[in-house]
Amino acid sequence: MEFLNVIGSRRSIRYFQQGRAVEREKIQTILEGARLASRAVNVPWAKAIVAYRDRLTQDEIDSLKTPFASVEFDLAPVYILWYHDMDARRVAIESSAYPSVASGTLQDIGALGPPHGWSHKYVQEVVLPEVLMPGLSAGPQRGGNADAAVAMTQGLLCAVEEGLGACLAPFNEAGAAEVFGVPDTWEPVQAMLVGYSAESPQAGGQRPRADWDKTFFLGHVDKPYPRDPAVTESMKEQGLIQEPSPIPWRSDEVRALSRGFRLPGGEPVEETA
Ligand SMILES: Cc1cc2nc3c(=O)[nH]c(=O)nc-3n(C[C@H](O)[C@H](O)[C@H](O)COP(=O)(O)O)c2cc1C
Repeated sequence: MEFLNVIGSRRSIRYFQQGRAVEREKIQTILEGARLASRAVNVPWAKAIVAYRDRLTQDEIDSLKTPFASVEFDLAPVYILWYHDMDARRVAIESSAYPSVASGTLQDIGALGPPHGWSHKYVQEVVLPEVLMPGLSAGPQRGGNADAAVAMTQGLLCAVEEGLGACLAPFNEAGAAEVFGVPDTWEPVQAMLVGYSAESPQAGGQRPRADWDKTFFLGHVDKPYPRDPAVTESMKEQGLIQEPSPIPWRSDEVRALSRGFRLPGGEPVEETA
């Protein structure tokens, strides 16, 4: 699939084919995509645990659920739990365990260099003491992490490219810690629920979004970034912008899926005519 079409074809998928396993290599592709995501000072903040539903007990599955995502854990054959490793910066600095800015690797390979003000001396005398060390003594800090989200998103788009359906949703932190032995320095980001979609590719159409003019700005927040209709048209042709919801037959599709999965909302419709 072309890249723009991958982005345009992604939907949050909440019904998954049963009895159809996800190939191991496809899960690895998701992880490979995430691993190459950009990250601050080249530290591996994102961590992920892959779990196969059928290898868990129902109690273990239930312990991962939240009020916002429950059925999805019953229907998705694979869960990838994404975390922000709050200790990653300390480990990178203190042990030089990773090929990070702190260890000097990015300078050594010429990714960061003198033209942009980077040198070993600058890292040792400025970046480490003034940027990377401050705050470490306070211990791991919660509060989300852009790096983990970027990695997870690259993995999500790889899932779409591999023909899989996926949905991001929160998971129960304590339950996951118990089941998977998660260190308490890992802050949950989201669960990626993965499998082959039982929904149509449109999955009801592209979801509506807030107005462009209230989202993107040029030079000043009073000035929306101009949206060129010709570019928008080209995005439609390339599959980035697709048929919007609501698609007329979506409610029938949802009812049929719900009936098939014996979920609420799948009751037969009373014939009125
Ligand atoms: C950070 C994040 C949290 C989300 N949480 C939930 C959730 O709790 N339950 C759920 O069903 N979907 C959840 N979603 C999926 C969104 O509801 C979905 O992205 C949104 O409705 C737009 O639809 P689309 O992803 O199909 O474009 C979440 C998505 C993100 C990125």
